[in-house]
Amino acid sequence: MATPYACTHLTEVDSTQDEARDRFGGTPELVIADRQRQGRGRLGRHWDQAPRALAASLAFEPSWPETTWPRLTLVAGLAALDALPSQFGHDSPGPGRLGLSWPNDLYRDGRKVGGILVEAGDGVVVAGLGVNLWWPDPPPDRAGLYHKDPGPDAAMDLARAWATSLLGRLAKGPEEWGKEEAEAASVIIGQRVVLADGAEATAVGLDDDGSLVVEEEGRRWSVRSGPVSIDDGEIGEQ
Ligand code: BTN
Repeated sequence: MATPYACTHLTEVDSTQDEARDRFGGTPELVIADRQRQGRGRLGRHWDQAPRALAASLAFEPSWPETTWPRLTLVAGLAALDALPSQFGHDSPGPGRLGLSWPNDLYRDGRKVGGILVEAGDGVVVAGLGVNLWWPDPPPDRAGLYHKDPGPDAAMDLARAWATSLLGRLAKGPEEWGKEEAEAASVIIGQRVVLADGAEATAVGLDDDGSLVVEEEGRRWSVRSGPVSIDDGEIGEQ
């Protein structure tokens, strides 16, 4: 049976992260907003969203041990791929397929179309998903998913599908978090990457705990955090 959750749709908020956290009372709480005044990304960065965008946050109390919570960012990304229409997501056969850039970005054709932000405190996790749906004039490294405005209901439907998938994936437990799926969806595995300390390596896979495994000159190691960039553009960070 699907895990129940409460859902609130608001026109404008500072950040859905704060709204979901404030409203959380024990049952998972999904907050969706048409606009955010102070949407935030990782590392305290401002999150700019497209004229038509999905901005949603789900607050919940994970039953998973806290040591496994770093996997939640990847699980939330897989849930986003589940929720997005098949012409973009897992089932897409070709160019235009969405991919995950470890650990928290959604990419399509080399441009960032969305991101995940997971925040935790006092035993409560707030997972946020931002996806740019239609963006006629985006910055150079960004894009919207649709050529035409898909309308206001699209974000609502996608946000609900994302929350349902995320809660379903959580119910499977931390060992079944989807490592192989995340590897298959990755846009950086097999690529040369630049790590936070400036070292270069080849991304070769994911660890069971969700870390990125890289290799250079016969040596393999796991990267748990820090920006990861490909070519000369930063495409992943933790
Ligand atoms: C990133 O790429 O740095 C993560 C971006 C996460 C943005 C979403 S939009 C919904 C939720 N509310 C926020 O303020 N941020 C997240």
